[in-house]
Amino acid sequence: MTSTPWWKEAVIYQIYPRSFFDSNGDGEGDLPGITSHLDYVQKLGVDAIWLSPFYTSPNKDGGYDVANPRDVDPRFGNLSDFETLIDRAHELSLRVVVDIVPNHFSDRHAWFQAALAAGPGSPERNRFHFYDANPDGTPPNNWISLFGGPSWTQVEDGQYYLHLFDSSQPDLNWENNEVRDDFEKTLRFWLDLGVDGFRVDVAHGLVKENIRENHPDPQGLSDALRLDVDMDIEKRNALLMSVPFFDRQGVHEIYRSWRKIFDSYIGREIMAVAEAWVHPPINATLYVRPDELHQVFNFDLLTAPFDEDFLFDVISRSIALTATVKALPTWALSNHDSPRVASRIGDAQSRALAVFVLALPGSAYVFAGQELGLPDGKLRDADRQDPAFLRTNGEVKGRDGARVPLPWSGEQSPFGFTTGTPWLPIDPLWKSLTVEVEDLDPQSTLNLYRQALTLRKIHLTGVEQMQWLQSSNSEVKSANLLIFQRGPLQITMNLAEHAQEIEAKGQVILISSGSLEVHGEKWLLPPYSCIWSLN
Ligand code: NOJ
Repeated sequence: MTSTPWWKEAVIYQIYPRSFFDSNGDGEGDLPGITSHLDYVQKLGVDAIWLSPFYTSPNKDGGYDVANPRDVDPRFGNLSDFETLIDRAHELSLRVVVDIVPNHFSDRHAWFQAALAAGPGSPERNRFHFYDANPDGTPPNNWISLFGGPSWTQVEDGQYYLHLFDSSQPDLNWENNEVRDDFEKTLRFWLDLGVDGFRVDVAHGLVKENIRENHPDPQGLSDALRLDVDMDIEKRNALLMSVPFFDRQGVHEIYRSWRKIFDSYIGREIMAVAEAWVHPPINATLYVRPDELHQVFNFDLLTAPFDEDFLFDVISRSIALTATVKALPTWALSNHDSPRVASRIGDAQSRALAVFVLALPGSAYVFAGQELGLPDGKLRDADRQDPAFLRTNGEVKGRDGARVPLPWSGEQSPFGFTTGTPWLPIDPLWKSLTVEVEDLDPQSTLNLYRQALTLRKIHLTGVEQMQWLQSSNSEVKSANLLIFQRGPLQITMNLAEHAQEIEAKGQVILISSGSLEVHGEKWLLPPYSCIWSLN
């Protein structure tokens, strides 16, 4: 065992199985498709993969509606395909992290079907949050689902059940020991099959309080929880402090018990990363106290503007906060729930920011396709499948744009992803963004990521600290520049749309785009670029 656990500074590549590679021509990616492309992932230079759910599911919410958490959905293959995948990954020295979805099951899960059949007051209903209607027939409270509409659905006998997400995703009652035991069984099931860690979905949501009480501003709360709704920051923060179903202190005891399970797999260095959208930010660190989980996602960069003050603040804050519990931060620019970074801030900017972020201390997550510089797919409403789109009658466009399958090769859509019809259409313009094209182009985003990941391993492994050298917030003021030192590297990002001069220092080993002009003792940085220099 090494003294630094593998996950501390790992780069973890998120695979959305449905969109990665289709091995059988049904238009959807699958486990054999992933296995056959793990050499591509290894060549990228990442340390691990995180697989979004591939469990038995009616797929109402991209597999986050789990009907059997201990089996593989036939659309993705079977358990033996999973075993082959994990063996191949380990052969290639890639760790495997899988999703676990403890906040809710699918309504197709045997427990929910049993709860419907068993009726009010039964032990089967007690595994979920079933409540009688109010005397006037209305739901037990006024909470709004995160996908829009009420968070309660009425069943035939008049009771309501709680679902923070889609009505097909009934929330589990974590005060029920059967729920706890079942999840421990699920953790052990996948650990015994060899997984190296878990990404814990809605980790902050398992415990609810005051279910019988209305929230004073349910619509405001719902808007505050949506990243696409603009809101005064003070108002949003105040609302986020009042969420009765997130970040209740009871969740921590659950993770303490999970940690004991992880640690009982001696020598395996099992890790877990929490998806926890909490406020105030200091609360996120509670999930990574030494006896709880290992990492917590930092979502600040998913919505961050390409702005030096903003970036300086969120990066400094993340590092300082996680240090209070002796943990390191995590960084993510894109995932399956948010617009892709290239669409959000622009192509050159997203290359610069990626190179910048990959030099920061801690662990970085890369969402499959990000390394190709993929934008969001342009979709017609008729193609959309996200429940957030369907539950809001199209008011919220949803997350399908970020989930369009990867373009692998060839001139024509679907670019080798499938021999059939892809589950979401792939833009014909993506022919310049295929793996095949980018592999051969030394200036491509793919080769930029490969270089950055190689250099990160060589120069930054084991270097936990970074020091800001320049930012508009620091004493040495300079607009549109961020500079920090980490180990032997100086990382300099020009956030301006014009070239900027800086003092030359050391030898440039990486540049995100454009080329560097040397003017005597000065370097002229291209617009929207980031360089790594070795000194
Ligand atoms: C977070 C997941 O990332 C998202 O895709 C899903 O819809 C919700 N949790 C509900 O499970």
